Amino acid sequence: MNKFENKVALVTGGSRGLGREAVLKLAGNGSDIIFTYNTNKKAADEVSTKIAQLGRKAVALQFDQSNISSIGRFVESVSSALSEHWQRDSIDFLVNNAGIGKHEMLADLTEETFDSLMKIHFKGVLFLTKNLLSKISDGGRIVNISTGLARFSLPAYRVYASMKGAMEVSTRYLAKELGGRGITVNIVAPGAIDNDFNKESFDSAPQLREIIAGNTALGRVGVSEDIGGVVGFLCSENAGWITGQRIEASGGMFI
Ligand SMILES: NC(=O)c1ccc[n+]([C@@H]2O[C@H](COP(=O)([O-])OP(=O)(O)OC[C@H]3O[C@@H](n4cnc5c(N)ncnc54)[C@H](OP(=O)(O)O)[C@@H]3O)[C@@H](O)[C@H]2O)c1
Repeated sequence: MNKFENKVALVTGGSRGLGREAVLKLAGNGSDIIFTYNTNKKAADEVSTKIAQLGRKAVALQFDQSNISSIGRFVESVSSALSEHWQRDSIDFLVNNAGIGKHEMLADLTEETFDSLMKIHFKGVLFLTKNLLSKISDGGRIVNISTGLARFSLPAYRVYASMKGAMEVSTRYLAKELGGRGITVNIVAPGAIDNDFNKESFDSAPQLREIIAGNTALGRVGVSEDIGGVVGFLCSENAGWITGQRIEASGGMFI
């Protein structure tokens, strides 16, 4: 029997990077998947094809987490997908992964950048989760995504990292709030990952890879695949007694 037989996961930002690897890990373990993309439908279609190749059902939905007023409509589209494809109105796993990277020194910070990071990384996640609360099965799982930057500090990441820090606090509160329903809530904090998210930084400063590898106990920069399995584990039976925890998956960056 598949580990995740009859389970349905909702993963935001599943079209690329860490979300894509989380989706493939969950599907590989037998879960069906609803995942979101923001603008890159082509990447989403490729992920849907891969999920089908793993023998699981997939539905890709467009979702912009910065558009707070669209969250109610998005949750209705999740409901429609659940009823059409699974004849149910609940999900088992919610993986709040979608995000963008933006960094600016305080002197250059604009209100626009602040608001965009705040909505995508904190307000949007909170209100999406709120709107989905009644649809998460008792005994289900919520996995949020933070960053190593909420523990160590690198110049210019203050707003991004502060929003992730807020999510770490919120994770503990929600774990308490949902414990009575047997729902676990945890947050994974990846270190630097060599993927689209950091492409601009790595392209403009190729020596960055070496610097990060030199400051990482396991001696290399992370890849998206390093994180998918952690999300898969947190959704598994074996992780049922873990809740309210920040789990750093950084290969030992800056320890
Ligand atoms: N990469 C790292 O070094 C790193 C380290 C620590 C934490 N993280 C966190 O890991 C998560 C995933 O990042 P990643 O590295 O996988 O990034 P990525 O490769 O750039 O992928 C980002 C994903 O989020 C989606 N997305 C972007 N803006 C969105 C918006 N406004 N609303 C909804 N979805 C949106 C993208 O959709 P499209 O494909 O349509 O653009 C894509 O699916 C983020 O929360 C990030 O903060 C990343």
